Amino acid sequence: MEFHGLVLLFCYAWYLFYMGICSAQLQSSQTQVLLQLQKHLEYPTQLEIWKDHKSELCFMSSTQVKITCKDNFVTELSIVGDKPKNGRDFDGFAIPNQTLSQSFSMDSFVATLARLTSLKVLHLVSLGIWGPFPNTIHRLFSLEYLNLNSNFLYGSIPPKISTMVNLKTLMLGDNFFNGTIPNLFNSSNILSVLNLKNNKLKGPFPFSILSITTLTIIDMSRNQISGNLQDFTGLSILEQLDLRENELDSDLPDMPKELKMLFLNRNSFSGQIPQHYGQLNKLEQLDISFNALTGTTPSQLFSLPNISYLNLGSNMLSGTLQNDIKCGHNLRFVDISNNRFVGDFPSSLINVSENRVVKSDGNCLSGSLKHQHAVSYCTKTKSHQVGFFVGVIVGILVIIVLLGLCIVVTCKRYYSKGISEQHLLHKSVQDSFSTGFSSELIANARYVSEASKLGREDLPPCRSYSFEELKEATNNFDNSTFLGENIYGKLYRGKLESGIAVVIRCIPLSKKYSIRNFKLRLDLLAKLRHAHLVSLLGHCIDGILGERIDSKVFLIYECVSNGSFQTYLSGDSCGKIFNWPERLSVLISVAKAVHFLHTGMIPGFFKNRLKTNNILLNENWMPKLSDYGLSIISEETDASGVKEESPNSWQMKKLEDDIYSFGFILLEALVGPSMSAKKEATVLNAMASFNSQDDWKQIVEPVVQATCCKESLSIVVSITNKCISTESWSRPSIEDVLWNLQYASQVQRTADGDHRI
Ligand SMILES: *[C@@H]1O[C@H](CO)[C@@H](O)[C@H](O)[C@H]1NC(C)=O
Ligand SMILES: *[C@@H]1O[C@H](CO)[C@@H](O)[C@H](O)[C@H]1NC(C)=O
Ligand SMILES: *[C@@H]1O[C@H](CO)[C@@H](O)[C@H](O)[C@H]1NC(C)=O
Ligand SMILES: *[C@@H]1O[C@H](CO)[C@@H](O)[C@H](O)[C@H]1NC(C)=O
Ligand SMILES: *[C@@H]1O[C@H](CO)[C@@H](O)[C@H](O)[C@H]1NC(C)=O
Repeated sequence: MEFHGLVLLFCYAWYLFYMGICSAQLQSSQTQVLLQLQKHLEYPTQLEIWKDHKSELCFMSSTQVKITCKDNFVTELSIVGDKPKNGRDFDGFAIPNQTLSQSFSMDSFVATLARLTSLKVLHLVSLGIWGPFPNTIHRLFSLEYLNLNSNFLYGSIPPKISTMVNLKTLMLGDNFFNGTIPNLFNSSNILSVLNLKNNKLKGPFPFSILSITTLTIIDMSRNQISGNLQDFTGLSILEQLDLRENELDSDLPDMPKELKMLFLNRNSFSGQIPQHYGQLNKLEQLDISFNALTGTTPSQLFSLPNISYLNLGSNMLSGTLQNDIKCGHNLRFVDISNNRFVGDFPSSLINVSENRVVKSDGNCLSGSLKHQHAVSYCTKTKSHQVGFFVGVIVGILVIIVLLGLCIVVTCKRYYSKGISEQHLLHKSVQDSFSTGFSSELIANARYVSEASKLGREDLPPCRSYSFEELKEATNNFDNSTFLGENIYGKLYRGKLESGIAVVIRCIPLSKKYSIRNFKLRLDLLAKLRHAHLVSLLGHCIDGILGERIDSKVFLIYECVSNGSFQTYLSGDSCGKIFNWPERLSVLISVAKAVHFLHTGMIPGFFKNRLKTNNILLNENWMPKLSDYGLSIISEETDASGVKEESPNSWQMKKLEDDIYSFGFILLEALVGPSMSAKKEATVLNAMASFNSQDDWKQIVEPVVQATCCKESLSIVVSITNKCISTESWSRPSIEDVLWNLQYASQVQRTADGDHRI
């Protein structure tokens, strides 16, 4: 009996002790805060478990949720949700199933968080948190680790973040921040990791960051940071710097010795590669491709002890590469393609036993390399550049002279004289503006990207429109705005409130996709922005998907007003006739667009219904491809029996293969669309025998004959033949097509004597 009592007493005491531990783990006020946060986050399934374990919250640790406590206070809060940021069309309003609801308030959420006064680690990822990020975050002064990646935060990075002097890791990547980065950091900040990647941050690189000497990783890739960079050598322990895909345009800055990874690709850096990059002995990965770098390359880059990835592609680097380059033992990838290198290709780069990927296309290297330009292409650059500067200076002089003339003319006019002179002057100015496009301008990628940047800046980003807005834009879809109809639905002309002329395509929708899936597909389409694609400006879904039989989607495109390439080829247009160099430059542009569709995104877009009808020309004669990519949102329109236009036209066959249909575009550029009336077989036979017989004169258009050199034509004929080969495996890739066209254009320019500069 006594023993029994003792056991009971012991159990009771133990129970009390145990309960004591548990309840002592967390102050009830902290528990209240956690439950409020759960409410703010709209009870995500990951936090379901909180309901039943209010007293044990501190013991919780799963892959998605973790709370740590110390001295009755929460010190760590980690929640990983399942609402990753996807798509780019967030415009500051809640999106069902992606963001938290309209009633979520970032201000009150952060105010609640701030009551966890001992919080050191805050990790809230993919929870759909949306809104501007309030300055009050600095009240969490103990915070050492802050990660809000993959949410929907926008606006500026709050300036007071720079006063959080305990912060070691700051991660705000994959959000929608579209303001600037505060420039208020100083040496009392001890940040080690700064990640702001994949936002829309603008403005210059904040130089105060260079005073945070504790930094080891900086990732600000994929933003719109512009301007120049200064010396980074002060960041003596920096190991990783990622600024790729921004708009930086200075010389390459000096870098600290400890650096292991440096990504500056896809900016507009110019000047030479600093010699001391060849002494960054820790460097493992270097990517400075797609810039405008010039000059020679430090050969030590290839022999750095730990270098494994070296990408110098698509710049304007020149000179020879030393034949006895020693390669680092770990070097697995080297890209020097699309530069202006001349001379022998260093044989040591290709050492079979070292199993290395080396890309060298698009240079002027000698040896048995494929896809090299003639040496003149690479060595002419300097004179081109000199020519360019001479051009600029001459241009300035001409402007000064013109201004002077203007003054003279005005004066003369003031004295009621010289009216005819003014007329002449006016005319000469007009002439110089109306020369149309230079084929060289369009053929040269770098110029095109500059020109297109200018052209696209006034286009707004893609967003969703309401049906009412579209009704207004088209005067309630008035008959006068109806442009026509094709396999993808009806087309209307419209004008947005902002005054931009647009073309609106209306596509009937199948029930095949969930709204989420469908929006994902629209987002993919919206990402396809390229100088030679007709830009998608927005979309509008009328009717809930799948609910109504007649749900429709409207796609709003920029208006490209100068007609299609086909009308100019067929001579239907009055005025403009495309000569051979001009045809080539249109074809090159379109090939670039197709290349972008195939390789610019994963997965690529391979069914683009390419035809000359879909190549539109804008007021500057810049070609833009339309009707691309639509197969991903309307796969069923074909099957549902919408009638195909001109079913007997031979170029419509096998439209599912882009290369094949591009072949027919090439063919039309050679022989003109009128040939479609003749028998396909005759044309193809004649094409096949082009090189052996002289009967090509019968089929190639007279304009082409008159303006082409035979070599250039022959390159295009031969690639055309390969594209329209009946065996799909033997057709070339779009890179091959593009390369051949550029080569043909170069040959033609050489033949023309290239007197331009
Ligand atoms: C940032 O994005 C928000 C939401 O899309 C928008 O309201 C705001 O005007 C943008 N701010 C800037 C500076 O672009
Ligand atoms: C989206 O949210 C609604 C409730 O708001 C829900 O009924 C629907 O199943 C969700 N759809 C997806 C694809 O998660
Ligand atoms: C750094 O800036 C903070 C304010 O942002 C200031 O209080 C502090 O004194 C500054 N420290 C140094 C070393 O300049
Ligand atoms: C190269 O990498 C190895 C292994 O990562 C490391 O031990 C070595 O110190 C590095 N060499 C240099 C010069 O940094
Ligand atoms: C190729 O690489 C092996 C192993 O790294 C090296 O021993 C050999 O000398 C190299 N050959 C040439 C021609 O560079």
